[in-house]
Amino acid sequence: MGPSFPTELLPSSARPSERGLVVGGVPVAALAAEHGTPLIVYDEDHLRQRCADVRRAFPDGASYAAKSFLCRSVARLVHEAGLGIDVASGGELAIALGGGVPASALTLHGNNKSSDELGAALDVGIGRIVIDSWDELDRLSGLADNRGARQRVALRVNPGVAAGAHQSIMTGHATAKFGVATAGGEAAQLVARIRATPRLEFTGIHVHAGSQVTDLGPLAQSITAAAAVARECGAAELIVGGGLGVAYTAGQTAPGIAAWGAMAHAAARACGFEGRILAEPGRAIAATAAITVYTIGTIKRLAENSIVVAIDGGISDNPRPALYGSSYQPLLVRHPFLPETAGRGPYSIVGKNCESSDTFARDVCLAAEPRGGDILCLPVTGAYTYSMSSNYNGLCRPAVVLVRDGGGRLVLRRESVDDLLRADVIA
Ligand code: LLP
Repeated sequence: MGPSFPTELLPSSARPSERGLVVGGVPVAALAAEHGTPLIVYDEDHLRQRCADVRRAFPDGASYAAKSFLCRSVARLVHEAGLGIDVASGGELAIALGGGVPASALTLHGNNKSSDELGAALDVGIGRIVIDSWDELDRLSGLADNRGARQRVALRVNPGVAAGAHQSIMTGHATAKFGVATAGGEAAQLVARIRATPRLEFTGIHVHAGSQVTDLGPLAQSITAAAAVARECGAAELIVGGGLGVAYTAGQTAPGIAAWGAMAHAAARACGFEGRILAEPGRAIAATAAITVYTIGTIKRLAENSIVVAIDGGISDNPRPALYGSSYQPLLVRHPFLPETAGRGPYSIVGKNCESSDTFARDVCLAAEPRGGDILCLPVTGAYTYSMSSNYNGLCRPAVVLVRDGGGRLVLRRESVDDLLRADVIA
């Protein structure tokens, strides 16, 4: 048996070749040479295919969750692929509009939308605002009155269900800060208030119980709780949120988009909900679409033969290891295979940020021996990587390229030290 190429962790166009890993027909080493590292490489066709999968699984319509990754080019791509976009701030709204996405295809979320954000959404004629609280309903109603505007709104409910890979990304349990409870009739009361507000048009119920969910059971429970409210109040639509998890390392598994869609429809219909069923995934579209490409610097042997391999980025460009204890499957770009049983190592892959949580893989083997200057990539870094990056330790955010058909295009240029200094005002 030859070395194993981790197809399921890589963008769909990824191939091994004599020039090492190739994505979108372009050798990753050539992209690293052209753009430098750290570099995030998205496979455009993979993004399009995932959007198509979501459209098939949710024929009534779907949006892409911008928080997983957004820039203007991706906003445009996702919209061309037939999806709306869910934005969670005035900033994401501006990026989506800047990508040429019509406001009518956008949905505004957030548990503490500012009046400026609500006003901006009303002014551009956003497709839908998902109301999260009584307070927000009052403010939105006032803002709509002032403008003489009419607005379509949904209501986010809290189903009282814990779902997700880590406590920090569970959003539907009873003490979560999002939405209003399905329990005790609060959600139904708020729907009645929305319906009594002349400038607002009630469209439906929204639920999102958590993220990186690999067991469909809790998602089904949350949809059941929300669908019951949606049916009772005669809602035209039920938005089932996102949440579908993906495999991050070899051997992990996750349900596919089609199975998730089938479950969502079955759960909602079993409650007697007959309206439109919509979804808004982020990770399931973007995560596996990208790899992050790094250059190996220092390699250090520690006590007990443990070897640390340091890359030229870190939790500043991907904080998930520090926040959620996430691990990744490192691959050497010149030999992009999973280690065979007796692979080289074990190695720990660490970044250059100043804390020990800056570790992307602990005691893993690589398919070949890493050397300083080698290019290494971390697959499954297309969602919640760049969008959660920071300038910790004064590091600059990576560049982002989209690749397709043998060509790459820069969509986010690498930050420079000048960018860091731009907001720094000497008083
Ligand atoms: N809709 C709403 C209202 C959401 O809050 C989210 C994610 C989504 C949709 C998309 O969820 P997805 O399909 O991507 O699971 N930073 C964390 C993930 C936080 C997700 C927050 N909400 C992580 O890196 O794992």
